[in-house]
Amino acid sequence: MADKPVIISDENSGKQLELPVVRGTAGEPTLSIKSLPKELGYFTYDPGFTATASCSSAITFIDGGQGILRHRGYPIEQLAKQSSFLEVAYLLLKGDLPKASEYAEFERDITYHTMVHEKLNTFISGFHYDAHPMAMMAGAVGSLAAFYHDRLDMNDPEHRMLAAKRMIAKMPTIAAACYRHHMGWPSAYPKNRLSYTERFLDMMFSVPAEDYEVSEVAARAFDLLFICHADHEQNASTSTVRLVGSTGANPYAAVSAGISALWGPAHGGANEAVLNMLEEIGDVSKVPQFIQRAKDRNDPFRLMGFGHRVYKNYDPRASIIREAAHEVLADLGTSDPLMDLAMELEQIALKDEYFVEKRLYPNVDFYSGIIYKALGIPTSMFTVMFAIARTVGWVSHWLEHCENPTPIGRPRQVYTGPAERDYVALKDRG
Ligand code: SDX
Repeated sequence: MADKPVIISDENSGKQLELPVVRGTAGEPTLSIKSLPKELGYFTYDPGFTATASCSSAITFIDGGQGILRHRGYPIEQLAKQSSFLEVAYLLLKGDLPKASEYAEFERDITYHTMVHEKLNTFISGFHYDAHPMAMMAGAVGSLAAFYHDRLDMNDPEHRMLAAKRMIAKMPTIAAACYRHHMGWPSAYPKNRLSYTERFLDMMFSVPAEDYEVSEVAARAFDLLFICHADHEQNASTSTVRLVGSTGANPYAAVSAGISALWGPAHGGANEAVLNMLEEIGDVSKVPQFIQRAKDRNDPFRLMGFGHRVYKNYDPRASIIREAAHEVLADLGTSDPLMDLAMELEQIALKDEYFVEKRLYPNVDFYSGIIYKALGIPTSMFTVMFAIARTVGWVSHWLEHCENPTPIGRPRQVYTGPAERDYVALKDRG
């Protein structure tokens, strides 16, 4: 049964207004407030969009209270266990799981676009060797528009899907090129006979002087991590991509903006910050003092990898990644004191009333760095790993926006500056 409209009454004007209720296939009901300015003369004020839906989307559903994450209706736990990153990419892009022939064609398409123009490697070589790889990624991905200006008619669905596939295919190649530039190694080229994650690992770690055999454990771990990072509805970086896309800018510019937004430590940069935090804590005996700092409003220290705008329960991805971290360490026959420290930190925090009361739980970034570290990824590259995976979500939302465009994103504001005043000539300013 359709929801009845919500009636608001304005005591100042004595007017009433019916606000229609908009309800999706799942999730909280929302109020359509489009008529508010015209009918009652009010805008709404919601810094950080904590209570505002910016669009409708059929790609991902999150229930923060229940700790639920589904992609096109499929629970993340099932996709993590039974699917692959490229199959999840197809699902996010197209809306359904592929038949065998559809998957084979999609995998061929992605594999066909893994190389980048040689001049892009020259572009990357222009960075200082110790440039942060996220700065290099944002620059390199934004520059792709310079290499593909001939196929950028955003009104052409074929051009749009080609741009989406090109970015999914090329992100690992560009990420590896950034890492190899930092290491002073020669360029590595994609080996198309390998799978998506095997190819990435080969481009990251193979060197001309030695044969390189991709570790199956590493390839599988990356596939799982990429599935867990592929999409997460209207998070800050995806909202950035949609906002840039709403201006009609090309998808490479939009994804480059998404990479920059992801870099922040409050967002995807948290995985790098978690490892730095664990190394700073150093020992279990120091955990209580850091928990104390995290609770102190005058201390900017935050427990990185904890808390979430939407999840007020356990982030389902954190559980999956924590289990995978144990498996990877066991498969590699190694242990990591930082894993023990992270688990101890989690146990103490989850029993602390501050974290319980504020419903702060580990999020996707809390354990992922343990796996990246075990697989030889340097901390500065952790958020690049996040960006490779999230490119699938970014381009899926960009395509969805193109097919179902909202007006150009243009939030309003509450003006708090000076009231009108007249200009005073310099000589009269005393
Ligand atoms: C990602 O949106 C997404 O979906 C993002 C993401 C994705 O897949 O795209 O899931 C990926 O970005 C995960 C989040 C990674 N960030 C971190 O781990 C950084 C640490 N976390 C915090 O910065 C924080 O929890 C945020 C930014 C994630 C969420 O912040 P909100 O929603 O703005 O919540 P808040 O800051 O208002 O916190 C509510 C309260 C505050 O205290 P009060 O002002 O009410 O007294 O909880 C406190 C905060 O101070 N708090 C924390 C805390 N996180 C929140 N206190 C200590 N440590 C923390 N980590």
